[in-house]
Amino acid sequence: MKDAKELLRQALEAREKTYSPYSGFGVGAALLTKDGMVYTGCNIENGAFTPTCCAERTAFFKAVSEGKKEFSRIAIAGGHMGKPLERIVPCGVCLQVMMEFCDPQEFELVLAISEEDYEMRRLAELLPYGFSLVPTS
Ligand code: THU
Repeated sequence: MKDAKELLRQALEAREKTYSPYSGFGVGAALLTKDGMVYTGCNIENGAFTPTCCAERTAFFKAVSEGKKEFSRIAIAGGHMGKPLERIVPCGVCLQVMMEFCDPQEFELVLAISEEDYEMRRLAELLPYGFSLVPTS
């Protein structure tokens, strides 16, 4: 499986594409499919605020719209642009999107602490009682 550090590097690269003129907070994500493809995403803000899309959902929706539905891990890097990275955990809406497509006991999140350092979490740790209609095997 693709190295967590390499996936984090791709998340950092995706973060450069952030459109975040309202918050100045840039987020990048790199999502690894079970068949070894990577889909990246950045946060895309909107002057009307509610249409804003997080980096994680951008990556998921790109992948799903290309026919991918099985994922093994996602790397996420965020922070105020021009400042050191801040350790972030995805918002509840993004965790719920992950819940739709990923096994919470298996899916891994690579959360950047700095450009070189990260921590790994499973989806079940971050959303322990997540809702799903998807039948479990
Ligand atoms: N944001 C993400 O893209 N991912 C997260 O995990 C948390 C928040 C974005 C949304 C908004 O554009 C900015 O960060 C500040 O909330």
